[in-house]
Amino acid sequence: MKLNVCLHKQGCMFGVSVLILCLIIAVILGLLAGPGNPLTWFLIAALLIIPYMHKKLSARHYVEWKNEYSVGIDSIDHQHKKLLNLINQLQTAVDYSTGEEFERDALNELVNYTKTHFSYEEDLLKQNNYPDFAPHKKQHENMVKHVAEVLAEYEKDRDTAMSNAANYLKDWLVNHINGTDKKYSHFLIEKGVR
Ligand code: FEO
Repeated sequence: MKLNVCLHKQGCMFGVSVLILCLIIAVILGLLAGPGNPLTWFLIAALLIIPYMHKKLSARHYVEWKNEYSVGIDSIDHQHKKLLNLINQLQTAVDYSTGEEFERDALNELVNYTKTHFSYEEDLLKQNNYPDFAPHKKQHENMVKHVAEVLAEYEKDRDTAMSNAANYLKDWLVNHINGTDKKYSHFLIEKGVR
């Protein structure tokens, strides 16, 4: 499985590179034969479209901050934005052959920053006697537990674990930020937290 995913990633990049190279050669030969051939111009257009299409398809895997995710508290919004950036870093490791060191750094940075953020948020909720503090904390704990399982899986099968981690974290964080976290927004702002 590990080798298959790795070969798939490298195979995709190799395939795109070969396609671009073939198109460049075909365009050069077409131009040398005379610029009047419409096929040459079609190939030039294809050559220009490939990077755009590649960017578009890759972007679908990444999460983007939206204003609707804001909880109205700058420090927390800032931390949530950083978490989404760290998940995108993890997604880069899933999509490209970035190497084990990059993968481990991306995972560790995300895990550590997630714990820092949860701790910050829980302190704020506790200090302000947020009534749903316990279930909120429980959600954080469940997520940390799941990530620990992913880290254990990483030692057995790197590529599958990275892919599972990125998919799980994207879904979990966006839903949590935009759902559970939003619920404390009004309460904390009323208490004067900015
Ligand atoms: Fe922002 Fe409850 O995590």
